[in-house]
Amino acid sequence: MSDDSGTHELTLQQAAGLLSGADMASTKAVPSRGIPAVMMTDGSNGLAMNLPDFSGKVPATCFPTSSAMAATWDPELVSRVAARIAIEAREAGAQVLLSPGMNLKRSPLGGRNFEYYSEDPHLTAELATGFVHGVQGQGIGACVKHYVANNQETDRMRVSAEVSERALREMYLHAFEQVVTRARPWLVMASYNRVNGTYVSQDERLLTGILRDEWGFGGVVVSDWGAVENRVLALSAGLDLEMPSTSGASDALVVQAVQEGALDPEVVHRSADRVAALARRTAHRGGGSTPHDADPDPDALAVLAAARSIVLLQNDRDVLPLDSAANVVVVGAFAHTPRFQGGGSAGVHARVPAGSIVEALEQRHAGRVTFAPGYDASGTDLLEDSLESAVTAARAADIAIVVVGSPESAESEGYDRADLHLPSVQEQLIRDVAAAAPRCVVVVIAGGPVHTETWRHEVDAIVATGLAGQGVSQALGAILVGDSEPSGRLAETWPVELSDTPSYLSFPGESGRSIYGEGIFVGYRGHDLAGGRVAFPFGHGLSYTSVEYSDVAVEPTDSGWAVSLVVHNRGRRPGRDVVQVYVEPPAESPVRRARRTLAGFASVAIEAGESRRVRIDVPTRALERWDERLDRWVLDAGTYGFAVGRSSRQLLVRADVDVAGVVETPPLTLDSTLVEWLDHPSAGPALRAAVAEADPSGRTSGMLTNPVAILMIGGLPIHRLAIDAGNALTTSMLDDIAASL
Ligand code: BGC
Repeated sequence: MSDDSGTHELTLQQAAGLLSGADMASTKAVPSRGIPAVMMTDGSNGLAMNLPDFSGKVPATCFPTSSAMAATWDPELVSRVAARIAIEAREAGAQVLLSPGMNLKRSPLGGRNFEYYSEDPHLTAELATGFVHGVQGQGIGACVKHYVANNQETDRMRVSAEVSERALREMYLHAFEQVVTRARPWLVMASYNRVNGTYVSQDERLLTGILRDEWGFGGVVVSDWGAVENRVLALSAGLDLEMPSTSGASDALVVQAVQEGALDPEVVHRSADRVAALARRTAHRGGGSTPHDADPDPDALAVLAAARSIVLLQNDRDVLPLDSAANVVVVGAFAHTPRFQGGGSAGVHARVPAGSIVEALEQRHAGRVTFAPGYDASGTDLLEDSLESAVTAARAADIAIVVVGSPESAESEGYDRADLHLPSVQEQLIRDVAAAAPRCVVVVIAGGPVHTETWRHEVDAIVATGLAGQGVSQALGAILVGDSEPSGRLAETWPVELSDTPSYLSFPGESGRSIYGEGIFVGYRGHDLAGGRVAFPFGHGLSYTSVEYSDVAVEPTDSGWAVSLVVHNRGRRPGRDVVQVYVEPPAESPVRRARRTLAGFASVAIEAGESRRVRIDVPTRALERWDERLDRWVLDAGTYGFAVGRSSRQLLVRADVDVAGVVETPPLTLDSTLVEWLDHPSAGPALRAAVAEADPSGRTSGMLTNPVAILMIGGLPIHRLAIDAGNALTTSMLDDIAASL
């Protein structure tokens, strides 16, 4: 029997039972009320479902990780991949996919950064929106995670992210807000960590005040696995479903709290209603039904996605694509067995092996291809004599391709990376081979940036594959020979040194706290404001053709601005360009702002010689800032720059736009400063007039107009000045003015 009227017909025990798992992955069913169980599975780069006996995972298509998909800057492609993952989830009997992960990369050391998209909240929001649409279009529930400020693995179940409200709103909450309000995911996962001292799983302001009341979220809040510290507090705060099973222990706590009068039974039924609604909504329609609107061939899609995610970082002397007659030596054991994903709950049992980069190249390249392993399969040790033989082979070849990467143990859920360096044997191998070979290309296989400063200047080309899934070898082979055009762009900055990164001094924190001292200046926001060198900037990526921009125009729209420009492909090859719009705030601002922030982008395929007009919409929010004193978003009046370019550091065309905005005047109190009073449009003149009248000697007025005096005392709370018997400023005068405003 199906009953959509909610769960008030259920006993308290039954309702409480819906609020925790039946086992590791499923909720409990109440068959008599037509409430089926909901089976959940991980799967951000492919279905990551455990076998029933936990001896392994269900074989599945392995797509690029989220970090690699982010390099496509293409929400539509992300959506296509997500749809295929959802289809495999449905075929395996699941109703919910515990993805996408959308935490920001506060530090390049984040152990799960490969599961996340970017250091930028706008790019994260667009891609995660695509993912949610792709999944839910297949009738599977998407679960955005890990809400919120879960930016490190170190001490992840206890650490408190100490973060300002402005940084929370503009950075860490922003992407969640966009996805919740636009893509309407059916679940949100509450993270393990605390925010400003309170466990997210028990934080009513985050789980109810912001998520539901402000953003209108109507779905289920599920805990990360094992994230609930106090079940009753968590439920009261708005955490509906605790996972995994606690073998009835937490259900009993909920029932007891109600019976003792400590918990309103309505709270239990409200959350049970949400879980029941999710169960009914996701109850299919039979596993394995025919996919609609989805790519028919997942393996081909995996290769396409991998090709689109590969980033050409450097290409001196146009060494790539390979000259078809060149004798090539491929060096590095990872060329034989490339890494293609990260470890932990997201890990996929790839149905199709990634194959060998050497073989993929042999299939496509006309010239000779040879191989020298250089280091062992773990990536950390040299093989005997292998360095010498790699160098000898490089000397004899026209070009050496050194394949390097972070070892499997470097990137996983559960711990952060120790540093950005490749294993020292790999760095040495690059330098030695580059010194011997006439030309040298380095292929980096890693889920995040690596340190390049000790070898980058010695080599001609650098290609970053990310962790590109089962299609990596085919995709890379096609790019190296020029059968595919490189079009990936970095979704995170590659710093010169780790110590250049804005969060360096406080990541991952200590004594249970991680102080987000860099505030909003995460990633390129911090690098660009400080102005120091980076190895490769946010948004960077080269192509085999050459693209120019012209005729930029910015017009107001109902929801913001439309930026349009003409993109010209001046080269002789087709290409794909990622046009990036950055907004630069007015020079005058009440708070320190980033020099520029990504506000819109478009991935555009463009034929050789073609010119195309491209339009990119920029929402008003992209110009706003969170005002901590007013506790809301504010659009400052002023001149904003709309700069269009190919990275945050390569801006090619721009237009300035005057925005009326509002000049916000925070409410005046006796604790406001003298300058705040004087600058206030009505209180300022009133204060000057009252002082002139009260002190005809001019002493007090003189104090208020002397620029040096204002420098010294202008920042004092005004009531501190009203106690000086020698001046005419009195608290009653201030009270009168404040009352008249
Ligand atoms: C991870 C989540 C994952 C869950 C279920 C947790 O350890 O943090 O991302 O969805 O396990 O596997």
